[in-house]
Amino acid sequence: MMRALVLAGGTGSRLRPLTYTLPKQLVPVAGKPILHYVMDQIHATGIREVGVILAPQTGAQIRSSLEDNPWGLSFTFLLQNEPLGLAHAVKVARDFLEDQPFLMYLGDNLIGASIVHFVELFRKEQPEAVILLKEVEDPRSFGVAVVNDAGEVTRLVEKPKNPPSSLALVGVYLFSPAVHPIIEHLRPSWRGELEITDAIQGLLERGHRVLAHTLDAWWLDTGKKDDLLEANRVVLDDWLKREIDEKAVLEEARIVGRVRVEAGAVIRRSTVRGPVVVGKGSRIEDAFIGPYTSIGRDCVIRRASVEHAVLLDGTVVEGVDRLEDSLLGHRVRLVRKDGQPHHALRVNLGDDAEVVL
Ligand code: DAU
Repeated sequence: MMRALVLAGGTGSRLRPLTYTLPKQLVPVAGKPILHYVMDQIHATGIREVGVILAPQTGAQIRSSLEDNPWGLSFTFLLQNEPLGLAHAVKVARDFLEDQPFLMYLGDNLIGASIVHFVELFRKEQPEAVILLKEVEDPRSFGVAVVNDAGEVTRLVEKPKNPPSSLALVGVYLFSPAVHPIIEHLRPSWRGELEITDAIQGLLERGHRVLAHTLDAWWLDTGKKDDLLEANRVVLDDWLKREIDEKAVLEEARIVGRVRVEAGAVIRRSTVRGPVVVGKGSRIEDAFIGPYTSIGRDCVIRRASVEHAVLLDGTVVEGVDRLEDSLLGHRVRLVRKDGQPHHALRVNLGDDAEVVL
């Protein structure tokens, strides 16, 4: 039976300041960590044995986020002491993977379509690898593939200065065990990593067949603040349903459109215009919450208007007239005292920040 390998190690630098304290795989999109969408996807393929690569710094957080395990998956946690590359992670998982084909999934990738067909293609055609591709405008920060008319990959390069095509490697791959001996002989790239892209190129050089599947749906690389807000917008647009928990308290509340209000949330004298998620135990009073906003758990929004924003758990926004296009970490306090000028605020604040205007 095929196994899956999820890469949830590495170090996140691009989403700073948020990723100083939160592994990038756990950054929430529409109120749910990216890694949990990855597990949804794997669960849908029928795979049940999942190896999860952890880094020493963030491993405990990743493990505890998977503890509830609503998917009923069997997890094996594999510690990678240093982020020496995606192919190095496969080396770390060598024993776990046995001599079976496997699905490899980067834990910070979010895609808008099921991967079931992709797995079926691999089972049916039995090539040495199948890679998932997406056409992008600027492929220079990704692995890039060249594909012939038969859907076979002919060449691969990691982060090329002059991309040979516009097809970027999405972080989902299927491999036969033929990849292991190639990884054994890999040399580190210019950035000091064992690149999975080089391993796949190695398969090609030995005459193995590598197929590509091109994704039509969206693919979100949650790199920076604006990418994360965009991911939040797309996921809320595509997947959110109107769902108001019976343990939520609504008093003089106008809830318009697709809004999820979780248990114990309180909304008073306020308007919420979806798509919006209001997490467990959050309190919204005398406020307006506009479209494309995800509010974490136990937040307080009072005398404020918030739109197109992501607020993580325990954050307080008070007296702010227009907060928009913003990302706020855990337990942030953003408070405006009376008498300050009213204009829109756009912020990117990490955990525990305090701003009094
Ligand atoms: O996002 C797709 C891109 O992912 C591909 O187009 C590239 O070909 C591929 O090399 C990779 O590029 P990145 O440089 O963006 O990978 P990143 O370092 O962000 O790592 C991807 C995931 O793997 C992330 O969840 C962290 C994890 N990871 C990374 C390394 C380097 C590990 O678990 N161990 C590692 O050693």
